[in-house]
Amino acid sequence: MNFVFNNPTNLIFGCGKVNVVGEEAKKYGKKALIITGASSTKKSGLLAKVQNILANEGIENVVVDNIPQNPTTDSVMQAAQIARENNCDIVIGLGGGSSIDASKAIACMSVSDGHVNDYLLGKRPMSGKSLPVIAIPTTCGTGSEADCFAVLNDSETNDKRSLREWATLPKASIVDPEVMMTMPITVLRSVMFDAFCHNVEGYLSRKASPITDMFTLKGIELFVNNVEKILANPKDVDAWNAICLASTFGGFSLQSAGAVALHAVEHPVSGLHNVIHGKGLAALFNVVMEKTLPHFPEKFATLSRILGGKDEHDFLDQVNKYKKILELDISLRDLGVKESDLDWLAENALQVSQTLLSNNPIVFTKTELREMYQKAF
Ligand SMILES: [Fe+2]
Repeated sequence: MNFVFNNPTNLIFGCGKVNVVGEEAKKYGKKALIITGASSTKKSGLLAKVQNILANEGIENVVVDNIPQNPTTDSVMQAAQIARENNCDIVIGLGGGSSIDASKAIACMSVSDGHVNDYLLGKRPMSGKSLPVIAIPTTCGTGSEADCFAVLNDSETNDKRSLREWATLPKASIVDPEVMMTMPITVLRSVMFDAFCHNVEGYLSRKASPITDMFTLKGIELFVNNVEKILANPKDVDAWNAICLASTFGGFSLQSAGAVALHAVEHPVSGLHNVIHGKGLAALFNVVMEKTLPHFPEKFATLSRILGGKDEHDFLDQVNKYKKILELDISLRDLGVKESDLDWLAENALQVSQTLLSNNPIVFTKTELREMYQKAF
């Protein structure tokens, strides 16, 4: 057995904990760049609340609110320029996974030379530099608050790559279920499925360890026990706590064990068509898992039993049950993918997502990838 587990993020969890953002931020800086989405944190009043808390601690702020749903390399470079021009010394990601991922890349590029593409394409070694990041997720899916990854879309090629800069790992992550409770139910359904996938993939990963297994198996159990409760009663605080934990546990697993082939084949889809990530995962889940399952039957049997099944043979039946509950029983065609895209998707997955593909228990050929896209179409 060989593994490394190192995650020094200060995780602050609980309803109302967003109120400590000022105390946390002043440990690291005096002027914050806040990265947030176009509307939801304004409508809910969360952005104004965070700005007030920061002001009360004497911390100035500048807001960038134009990060796309799938953050682009151009948007990162523009925001990094704003951070430099305003002498910001800390970056706060306030929003869904897009805002948190972007905040990490922006924090890195605010103090690193060149273009973010240089690092994504390996033309430059990672700089090892970043402004300190504080993450305040408002969705419970990506787990981005517990890892140092920033998934970005190349603005020119649509390639979706992950910036992996250790220095961007959030200094503090404030996971406050209360700030998530205004999330639209359609968003909640797809982000919960993303969190579920992170935990399943982390458990299947070649880099899984006894520590990540604790996170992933518990994360799946929390999902199973609470997904129907939260949908039936969106004010159920216990269910929110559990689902938020499941998501953050997925993030801890991603940092160490990573994702596998499912995320590898999904990234080209959301890169090309700006598809909602959780929906892309749902469309591709079964085709990837049915090809992976024969190579790891014991692990799939364990997963199936947590989901309510007997063994590996009814694993997909159990997952289908949850996909129905989440209204995510969908195909690539439903998401706007065209049959003429399938060759590009297979080629792009192979070229761009090699790290994730090689982390899968079985490594797929291009032909197999193309067959999977066809079957999911
Ligand atoms: Fe994901």
